[in-house]
Amino acid sequence: MTEQIVILDFGSQYTQVIARRIREGNVYCTILPYSTSAKEIAAMRPKGLVLSGGPASVYAADAPHPDKRIFELGVPILGICYGLQLMAHYLGGKVEPGQKREYGKGTLRVKDPSCPLFATLPARLQVWNSHGDKLTRLPVGFRPVAITENSSYAALENRRSKFFGLQFHPEVVHTPRGPELISNFIHGICGCGRDWTMLNYVDTAVKTIREQVGRERVILGLSGGVDSSVAAALIHRAIGDQLTCIFVNNGLLRGREAGVVREVFGRHFKIKLHYEDASRLFLNKLRGVTDPERKRKIIGRTFIKVFEAATRKVGAAKFLAQGTLYPDVIESVPIAGNPAAMIKSHHNVGGLPKKMKFKLVEPLKCLFKDEVRQLGLELGLPKEIVLRQPFPGPGLAVRILGEVTPRRLTILREADSIVMEEMKAADLYYKIWQSFAVLLPVRSVGVMGDERTYEYTLAIRAVDSQDGMTADWVKLPYDILEKLSSRIINEVKGVNRVCFDISSKPPATIEWE
Ligand code: XMP
Repeated sequence: MTEQIVILDFGSQYTQVIARRIREGNVYCTILPYSTSAKEIAAMRPKGLVLSGGPASVYAADAPHPDKRIFELGVPILGICYGLQLMAHYLGGKVEPGQKREYGKGTLRVKDPSCPLFATLPARLQVWNSHGDKLTRLPVGFRPVAITENSSYAALENRRSKFFGLQFHPEVVHTPRGPELISNFIHGICGCGRDWTMLNYVDTAVKTIREQVGRERVILGLSGGVDSSVAAALIHRAIGDQLTCIFVNNGLLRGREAGVVREVFGRHFKIKLHYEDASRLFLNKLRGVTDPERKRKIIGRTFIKVFEAATRKVGAAKFLAQGTLYPDVIESVPIAGNPAAMIKSHHNVGGLPKKMKFKLVEPLKCLFKDEVRQLGLELGLPKEIVLRQPFPGPGLAVRILGEVTPRRLTILREADSIVMEEMKAADLYYKIWQSFAVLLPVRSVGVMGDERTYEYTLAIRAVDSQDGMTADWVKLPYDILEKLSSRIINEVKGVNRVCFDISSKPPATIEWE
């Protein structure tokens, strides 16, 4: 059994960040809802428990409470923020509303450097606070080990029980030494090794896939995106020719997309690849459609039909593989104030209907995106695929405002290639979340040589983001903007004006439709 840490989620917006920090320490971890019973947790034999933060107050009527027997499991516990307050609440301490909310950067002063959480760390640390309630009496058997400007109990320990509490957030980037703190907990205190690596995961996953699939056949819808590509490479490693990938060209792909996928998977990996060119069908269905939601629906529905037909063409299979990731399967805790619980994805247009009677193979189901990328590299996939920027399922259609026509697609494709080339040349493509061109349904007057022109306008969008939920526009250097504008206007027929989008998300979205 893989060594693991269990994180109980009390609705913090940072719960997944805690998990990622633990995994970066090469230790596996699982996020469970706060209400999971102590018995269930014990059955997983965790090496330690982390109680996440959360927006509630421990004394509120609807505050999330854990099974109190978790404190009797005999495993080390780290309580973060609300997690610390819960520990205090259950173990004889006292929590009260603070005079003022402690929010933002603070300086932590370690009073007892012998505390194993702070081993190897200096006596002063920058930390990130975000809490209203405050601990006013220590729980029984606990000692304070560090303080901040506003709190004499910023970090505490019960060394005998191996219970630790932090009032601040060690998982966020604003606590720069946070990863070491977390490492001290998982390695130093819980005694975990460093077995969780993507190299090791390849072996485990290959074994699991073989056990699940036996001699049956598996079908996988390859989009060319990171997740389906890595799933394909991994499953192929496990079962070779029992896997058939279906790649649907919906006519809304970027310039070299279909070519790259056929080259990498067909020729290089020698994966059985069924290429279904349905571009004409998609473009016919989209003729005259200008409403963004209708476009998405049409593309989603057409995709399902084409994919279903393709699965019949490639022959019977018992299993369907999907590149589902861990964040898609974590049960979000429905607590008011937890943004993760409220934001619903509108992006699942590629989801396949339940009536397709396949069993699912989902070998990335316990991985975060950064782990999937690492796994892809371990499997020998090129950087161009593994580190690529996200590209929406409905493709260029959501970047052509108004009707999607072959001419507009050509214009956008050419501009998109230029943006990608220049961002790569400037060494920025792999550093930011997304950069692309959008074709606007606006034409304006220009002059080229002696002639008056009346042509399209393109917008350049460049954003940075952690997960696509929020995003900041990137301040691209003027010389890159200049190069983009002059290349696009000179090289792409039909465009005489280029603008730069300076909106962040929210209130704008990343894509324009
Ligand atoms: P928005 O435009 O909602 O996009 O700010 C957030 C992120 O999701 C991507 N996106 C999609 N991805 N299917 C996808 O697989 C879609 O329909 C879709 N729409 C948007 C977008 O590129 C950005 O990274």
